[in-house]
Amino acid sequence: MAEKVRIVEVGARDGLQNEPQIVPTETKLQFIEQLADAGLKTIEAAAFVSPKWVPQMADHAEVMRGLQQREGVNYPVLVPNLRGFEAAVGAGATEVAVFAAASETFSQKNINCSIEESFARFAPVLEAARAARVRVRGYVSCVLGCPYEGAVDPARVADVAGRLYDAGCYEISLGDTIGVGTPNRTKTMIATVVARVSADSLAGHFHDTYGQALANVYAAMEANVRVFDASVSGLGGCPYAPGAAGNVATEDLVYMLNGMDVETGVDLDRLIAAGAFICGKLARETQSRVARARGKAC
Ligand code: HMG
Ligand code: MG
Repeated sequence: MAEKVRIVEVGARDGLQNEPQIVPTETKLQFIEQLADAGLKTIEAAAFVSPKWVPQMADHAEVMRGLQQREGVNYPVLVPNLRGFEAAVGAGATEVAVFAAASETFSQKNINCSIEESFARFAPVLEAARAARVRVRGYVSCVLGCPYEGAVDPARVADVAGRLYDAGCYEISLGDTIGVGTPNRTKTMIATVVARVSADSLAGHFHDTYGQALANVYAAMEANVRVFDASVSGLGGCPYAPGAAGNVATEDLVYMLNGMDVETGVDLDRLIAAGAFICGKLARETQSRVARARGKAC
């Protein structure tokens, strides 16, 4: 079906933003190092958002400055506005991500503005990024459902994704923020979006609330998507999406892709070790079935 898939590891951001405890900067840095040791080439490292809104990410600049950035590895960070962009670049970021939503209520709850206002905030970010030659990724949340509004029209998703792409985002990550999607709905949604943004500029970001994330990845692969966000040990969630579980566990994704002879460049044993490390620090159980089956979970 595909020869290669690129994995965007979001555990250090999507994962740690949703943990009740605040993880020390040093632990985050060790975690990120281990993810790079496992062969991951894109590791989302932090979010330059308000520390009042997401205190778990308050040390974003320290994380970025403390990183031993490796040749060939990207460390994107979330930025909600120009202030976040400037702080991120000042701390050494060379790739950022802006995040929009396909649901008005979620946009308000998550970033305190309407979808339209969010585009007005992103415009100067994209302009500054172009000038600084910083790559910008775009997220669309609630692509298969919203915690506040319920069903979301795929046409709305296509519109937001298309606007982000037209504004200069090189890739659009489609987020099933609350993990309510199923494979057929995933395919229908992607079929609508590809009329605006081609599949080779799309990524899938599937939370696993109902155990559908891996099936949704497979469905998206059948629709020619080749980039997937994943979170080691299945960490993750959004503080403004109540009830959502973590992302698809990177270990489980790599296991499936290995079994399909799809190249990821990721060493599964090292990945499981990175997952065990962070779960040990968080004193929580892994959500990865592969790590549990191998008896290597903490
Ligand atoms: P606001 O209150 O509308 O903005 O928040 P403001 O401009 O009025 O600023 C309020 C305060 O935040 C001020 O501080 C600003 O200085 C400060 P105060 O005067 O009260 O002391 N501030 C900042 N501080 C640090 N960095 C900044 C920044 N900007 C303003 N960049 C804002 C708007 C966007 C800042 C706020 O709503 C926010 O930070 N929200 C956080 C949203 C978030 O991080 N959500 C989780 C990530 S998204 C996600 O998980 C979904 C995803 O995984 C995909 C999926 O699953 O669907 C990506
Ligand atoms: Mg997410």
